[in-house]
Amino acid sequence: MDFYDVAAKRRTVRDFDPHATIDAETIQRIISAGLQAPSNDHLRDWHFVVIRDKSVILKLIEIIPKGISDQDMEALLEDWHLDDPVQQECYRNAVPKQYRMFADASCVVVPLFRQRTDILHPKDLSHLNGFASIWCSIENILLAATAEDYCCTLRIPLGNEEEWTRKVLRFPAEYRFPCIIAIGKKRADAKEIQQKEYSMIERIHYDRWE
Ligand SMILES: Cc1cc2nc3c(=O)[nH]c(=O)nc-3n(C[C@H](O)[C@H](O)[C@H](O)COP(=O)(O)O)c2cc1C
Repeated sequence: MDFYDVAAKRRTVRDFDPHATIDAETIQRIISAGLQAPSNDHLRDWHFVVIRDKSVILKLIEIIPKGISDQDMEALLEDWHLDDPVQQECYRNAVPKQYRMFADASCVVVPLFRQRTDILHPKDLSHLNGFASIWCSIENILLAATAEDYCCTLRIPLGNEEEWTRKVLRFPAEYRFPCIIAIGKKRADAKEIQQKEYSMIERIHYDRWE
């Protein structure tokens, strides 16, 4: 598939076929695309825990809420200042699916990067380079999965989800993960989330802002 077709086709999907599987060769091709991303220190010091064992996936996501009440959903939209109607529609669809999307995935990938300084108190932007680099790797993974005719979604760990994930997967203390990724096959009735429209002319600034 042409690169621009892959970029246009990649969308976050949260409704996976629970019976679909993914083989080790496909996973390796997808992760190898991840490992070809640019890295700040030239080391690509990344590891990827790939989980296909349903019992491990279910253990990992035990901590994720299985749904949200209408009242809590409204409070979340307000607390997080989500005012845009297209954005609200996206969250109304996404938040209740945070558990199910991983439970139904063909595999879950946890990308790990080594962080030597306190990431929550960086002295300057360069202290976030490891974090930025792993996101380059994650985008390659999302695009490669798309090229392989799989779909992805991801979740940023909230509260004590990071500690729980560490406990379940037993990776070394100096490694952190920015998100967990679900890869799977889109269900026939998967919800299409409307994209926010943008004007190319307004977004590109040649030579100066104006
Ligand atoms: C940094 C980042 C954090 C995200 N966090 C979550 C998340 O916690 N849960 C989720 O379901 N989707 C999450 N997403 C997916 C976004 O909701 C999605 O990319 C966005 O709505 C645009 O839709 P698209 O990916 O289909 O273009 C995240 C995406 C990014 C880049």
